[in-house]
Amino acid sequence: MSFAGLPVTPPPGAFLQASAEGEAALVAAVLANIGEPKRVADLFAGLGTFAVPLARKAAVHAVEGDAAALAALNKAAGALRLTTERRDLFENPLTAKELARFDAVVFDPPRAGAAAQTQALAGSKVPRVVAVSCNPATFARDARTLVDGGYVLSRVYPVDQFLWSAHVEVVGVFSRP
Ligand SMILES: C[S@@+](CC[C@H](N)C(=O)[O-])C[C@H]1O[C@@H](n2cnc3c(N)ncnc32)[C@H](O)[C@@H]1O
Repeated sequence: MSFAGLPVTPPPGAFLQASAEGEAALVAAVLANIGEPKRVADLFAGLGTFAVPLARKAAVHAVEGDAAALAALNKAAGALRLTTERRDLFENPLTAKELARFDAVVFDPPRAGAAAQTQALAGSKVPRVVAVSCNPATFARDARTLVDGGYVLSRVYPVDQFLWSAHVEVVGVFSRP
């Protein structure tokens, strides 16, 4: 695989976005809405689909639960401004204090969503959050948490990337007024 021109060798069973076109649309939506951050956290980062293109414009901290995916990303990262952390973000989300060093956060959880992480984000001061989700139901639940925590949801992109299926991917853009 290649992310923003960086070759990354996926380990067996690693997560990849469903189609090249869908991935391109998601990356474009994230980059168009992330602003001009100096430091970004990419949560549920996988092999670096978003972390690598983001690392071309900011310092990125990629957090992911799968050790093999992170090892592949680390091996490929070279001179990119990229740090990684293996962490279970359901059990042990980044706290508001840990989030304070980031100007922006991207998160892209599995279908279950990111309930614990959005609770922590809701209590943080991170100015910009871009959420990517393959499950509009858990996206809506997590968006409610962010909005109740003071974020404004300014834009939602539906991305029809699951061919021959009624499933839809979404990208949501949240900021603090
Ligand atoms: C939808 S994929 C997104 C991966 C990456 N952002 C991408 O676009 O390729 C969700 C990712 O969350 C990771 N994950 C699942 N449960 C997790 C957990 N409890 N804590 C941290 N990461 C988890 C998976 O290993 C997977 O890489």
